[in-house]
Amino acid sequence: MDTDIQQKFTELYDTPPVFVVRAPGRVNLIGEHTDYNDGFVFPAAINFDVTIAGAPRQDDQVRAYSTRYLVSDTFTLSDIQEREKGHWSNFIRGVAHVLRSEGYPLKGMNLVVHGTVPIASGLSSSAAMEIASCLAFETAGGFAIDPVQRALYCQRAEHAFAKVKCGIMDQFISSLGRAGHALLIDTRSREYEAVPLPAQRVSLVIGDTGLPRGLGASKYNERRTECESAVEILKRSLPGITALRDVDEESFARYADQMPETIRKRARHVITENARVLKSVAALKAGDIAQFGQLMNASHDSLRDDYEVSCRELDVMVEAARQVEGVFGARMTGAGFGGCTVSLVADKAVENFKKIVGAAYLKETGREAKFYVCQASEGASRIL
Ligand code: GLA
Repeated sequence: MDTDIQQKFTELYDTPPVFVVRAPGRVNLIGEHTDYNDGFVFPAAINFDVTIAGAPRQDDQVRAYSTRYLVSDTFTLSDIQEREKGHWSNFIRGVAHVLRSEGYPLKGMNLVVHGTVPIASGLSSSAAMEIASCLAFETAGGFAIDPVQRALYCQRAEHAFAKVKCGIMDQFISSLGRAGHALLIDTRSREYEAVPLPAQRVSLVIGDTGLPRGLGASKYNERRTECESAVEILKRSLPGITALRDVDEESFARYADQMPETIRKRARHVITENARVLKSVAALKAGDIAQFGQLMNASHDSLRDDYEVSCRELDVMVEAARQVEGVFGARMTGAGFGGCTVSLVADKAVENFKKIVGAAYLKETGREAKFYVCQASEGASRIL
């Protein structure tokens, strides 16, 4: 366990912390922009997380110190205001606001927050922050929230305080991830299945483009609205549907020409991506890594051409990755518009991969890539 955070806590508050909790970031293997369409996703929690050391206070103040920004932020539980857009403490405030409105007995707390999830990289540092904050409030208040419900509350916090109408994937996997596994999540029923990732032979390599992903930017919410428009149009012919999840590839082909081109492309991505998630999980279970990799490639192409959420940096990195011997597949991961790629790479090719892709990426973009060989990790937990 990270003892520095405990030391920092003691230094700041003159007593050791009473608890330490952590929640991980995530990498999505396949199933992008499907979660707010009631579809399927297949993410894994990663070995980067947000750790929070804390102790309850006697009053209703929450005081949090960030080891990243080296500042404290204080707010009162009876009057939770939002801070300026993008402020790190909005995630804690948002979670407190939602839990309070649900009637949970929140206690004031002293906290030290320490994050290792790269920020704005599409690896869900905000979901990790929200889930860890929620667990801190649970621990200090002496109550426990079901992990799926916890994810739903944190999603609400993100909608209200970060102004991103995100789906449930990031908070879900941060709350429920399983070491060595990715989770196939049905975002409509919220049922999930942990599927083992191959322990040997292949690695998941995250490539950080270094280009901050503007998820808060209006594009994400715009895509959501475009999907809703697609549903409205398709409903005229398919009155039973409530989300793109309900439309299969065959029905889509029948009615696609009723939609304006942009809406049609957005819908086509979501509908084909849902099918790809199920096929890729079947391939993984059958040990067919090659097929899994091809579906990852197809996912990227669809995100680039139909959903139009990729960018030059992501495309350059993905293209470079696909040229490397021993790479099964490569795609952007997360919301897009910057952030990270994920590649499935034969273990023995990983070092070569970093060298070749890093050099090609630098040459094409002038940017330094970072690579993380990722270990699928456990979801949120109390560690002290
Ligand atoms: C962000 C959102 C998720 C999901 C992805 C795209 O990470 O928070 O809910 O929509 O983008 O798949």
